[in-house]
Amino acid sequence: MSFRDLPKIELHHHLEGAAPPALVRDMARAKGLDISGIFDAKGAYDYRDFLQFLDVYEEATKPFKSPDDYALLTAIVLGEAAEAGVVYLESFLSPDFCGGRDPVAWREYLQAMVEAANAAEALGITMNGIVTAIRHFGPEAARETAACARETAGDFITGFGLAGDENAGHPADFAYAFDMAREAGLRLTAHAGEWGGPQSIRDALTHLKVERIGHGVRAIEDPALVRELADTGVVLEVCPGSNVALGVYPSWAEHPIARLREAGVKVTVSTDDPPFFHTDMVREYDELASAFGWVEADFAALNRVALDAAFCNDFTRARIA
Ligand code: ADE
Ligand code: ZN
Repeated sequence: MSFRDLPKIELHHHLEGAAPPALVRDMARAKGLDISGIFDAKGAYDYRDFLQFLDVYEEATKPFKSPDDYALLTAIVLGEAAEAGVVYLESFLSPDFCGGRDPVAWREYLQAMVEAANAAEALGITMNGIVTAIRHFGPEAARETAACARETAGDFITGFGLAGDENAGHPADFAYAFDMAREAGLRLTAHAGEWGGPQSIRDALTHLKVERIGHGVRAIEDPALVRELADTGVVLEVCPGSNVALGVYPSWAEHPIARLREAGVKVTVSTDDPPFFHTDMVREYDELASAFGWVEADFAALNRVALDAAFCNDFTRARIA
């Protein structure tokens, strides 16, 4: 059996980060935008390091200027994920890029994405959205983003998150935005332990009171934190291909996901920004199988963890189980 045929649950995925470079190029051309600097000679996204990756990411969002553009992006991205066997996808959505954090515009963008997601159900994939603030845009922008999230919390928008430069500001600066989201009934996650060490994870847990951590892999540097994560059942949204491509770890074999799992930490597997890292869920599983000898039963177990940790209602959970 190819891993392609295994039903997969993916919890950590950025919608714009999944935009195929060819789509971004075509949309830019149609709109007379010159963003050729973000591509290499082969047409792939081109960046040297994480901070430049963030710049390229932002540049790649520029051709998507309307709800219709986001509907097309959603349809294409869900088609590709379904092709890789993903049956349930939680994608980070950014009011920053969808109407500049204006609640009225955000609603229109969101409606377009929901319609595209509803149509993609025919492919056997269900999507939920996690509204996400961008850390290097600052706490005030995060509060406006949380206000957009609060306005649209429901069966589709089920979570609130924090992405971007982990070394910008302190989690305490974002506590207010997370409190707003929690009070609106949203489930919470934040990127930490990717570019920051164990303290960054502790700070996200303390100040943002998240139940999942995006990445979280650098917990491995602190055995006491690893035990705490295992004991409290915090779920890590691990994206090994992203970590290897961005240089958090030099190779798949040196990635800590297997050690974290052996220590009893709840780990899941996701792609983060698939075309940026030349990956998809099938490649993630193939590489993990080669590096750690994981077999179908291991991936089925990881998917049960992901199912439990999914920010979805009971109806969706029963349907994707
Ligand atoms: N936004 C998109 N991908 C990201 C990553 N890997 N880390 C932080 N923010 C991101
Ligand atoms: Zn991410």
